[in-house]
Amino acid sequence: HKRYSIATIPGDGIGKEVIPVGQRAAEAVAAKHGFALEWTRFDWSCERYEKTGRMMPEDGIEQVKAHDAIYLGAVGWPGVPDHVSLWGLLIPLRRELDQYANVRPVRLLRGVSSPLANRRPEEIDFIVVRENVEGEYSEIGGRLYRGTADEVAVQEAVFTRRGVDRIMDYAFTLARGRKRKHVASATKSNGIVHTMPFWDERFEAAKKRFPDVETAQYHIDILTAHFVQHPDWFDVVVGSNLFGDILSDLGPAVAGSIGIAPAANINPEGAYPSMFEPVHGSAPDIAGQGIANPVAAVWTAAMMLDHLGEVQAARTLEEAIEISLERPQSRTRDLGGTADTKASEAAILDAIHSL
Ligand code: NAD
Ligand code: IPM
Ligand code: MN
Repeated sequence: HKRYSIATIPGDGIGKEVIPVGQRAAEAVAAKHGFALEWTRFDWSCERYEKTGRMMPEDGIEQVKAHDAIYLGAVGWPGVPDHVSLWGLLIPLRRELDQYANVRPVRLLRGVSSPLANRRPEEIDFIVVRENVEGEYSEIGGRLYRGTADEVAVQEAVFTRRGVDRIMDYAFTLARGRKRKHVASATKSNGIVHTMPFWDERFEAAKKRFPDVETAQYHIDILTAHFVQHPDWFDVVVGSNLFGDILSDLGPAVAGSIGIAPAANINPEGAYPSMFEPVHGSAPDIAGQGIANPVAAVWTAAMMLDHLGEVQAARTLEEAIEISLERPQSRTRDLGGTADTKASEAAILDAIHSL
């Protein structure tokens, strides 16, 4: 029977609380569906930075390359500046492993009530496809004359034809496999930002390669309004690194809570392992209290199993999440419930065993 080796990086804060829950839930479906998971744990985190001066060892990327996938919690903790922790771990992983497609599904799950009154699960079911290695998150730029009256900060947004075309291809191919076959592009092309007319040209070119896929395009500002007022319009939404980041926090808020939002950093060619991490961060405000919602981590584990080819196991995990959420006493506080992390986990594991 099949075995998969997973590099696990719980990271900081609630990452260390929810990742073990995702591992146990994945183990439970693996036993049921006849495959094995071998976990190798890496302590790369802000805690490690404070001890060693590095977020990960110098050959860190080489160490995780040998694994079938990476399962990551969250990176960032007060006391270590975010630019140090993020450029020291999360961003290099995404870039050096060329995980250029950041796939972030948004679905209104059974049992969760959307803050938008009277929405049903079939009305909120879309995927944000975020360009994940270039765009606004560029390394070109810096700060000058720090601390003086002449202080300046500049950063060039870098959009390459290769980079934009491949994320368009990913989004359109994903849409092709879905019922609605629709792609909406997030833009800001009203002449203010130079890079976005280029993004739009490449969107037009992609439309020609995928004539069977329907499309729409919205300026990012009104798009945020449409996410709230018309979430049912969306199927696949493709956006640049920064626009995709913003939309993929807004989407889960519309579908209940950031505490359920999963994400996959995909290297579609399979040249490198892909990395699976919840959308949320380390949540310093609730870390250590045992109350973090583990659903995002479990749903993220389902995306990982799906990616590894264990599609049935992934469906079992997703179904178990929804069964657990249908019982009010199994919902965590961010969803208006009273459950702690343990109670939520117990409900998910019960549901797996009942399936
Ligand atoms: P955050 O996602 O950590 O928290 C935002 C809010 O959502 C907080 O009130 C938090 O309590 C709540 N929340 C988040 N996840 C939850 C869960 N599973 N259950 C219940 N409530 C949850 O975002 P932030 O506060 O902007 O960032 C905190 C730190 O995390 C920063 O250092 C930031 O850079 C980092 N961060 C890392 C990642 C990542 O590693 N992928 C993502 C986002 C933020
Ligand atoms: C995310 C996070 C990261 C991002 C931060 C922590 C750098 O917000 O994964 O969405 O912006 O990519
Ligand atoms: Mn984000």
